[in-house]
Amino acid sequence: MTFEPNVLAFCCNWCGYVAADQAGAAKLEYPSGVKILRLMCTGMMDPYYVLRAFERGFDGVLVVGCHVGSCHYKSGNLQAKAELDRVSRVVQALGLDGRLMMTAASAAEGNVFAAAANEFTERVRKLGPSPLRGA
Ligand code: FES
Repeated sequence: MTFEPNVLAFCCNWCGYVAADQAGAAKLEYPSGVKILRLMCTGMMDPYYVLRAFERGFDGVLVVGCHVGSCHYKSGNLQAKAELDRVSRVVQALGLDGRLMMTAASAAEGNVFAAAANEFTERVRKLGPSPLRGA
């Protein structure tokens, strides 16, 4: 039986979420294991959210925000990047290296969202189930 990763995708309301919606409307395929959680801005990302997602058994965490310079709250995406850089050290220490990724997609880039969801899921599939699954 093939391992199907569960990925939690935090998407900002103005770009990432709309891109995911665009991907669906355009019938672009991405794995059903990608679950979307909408935030107003990726700047709301708290390291706790990432750790909680892993604790809850997700195999990967994807964050999709606006492109640099396009955040609707000016610099939320840059703040998110800084937060994720910080939490990535903890993620590595927990043996979850490679299971956290941030990317950008504009509201018109459903194809970018679908590609990121596919590529990230494939990367996580190669890593196998999270060691925290069922812990
Ligand atoms: Fe999209 Fe801030 S509103 S990252």
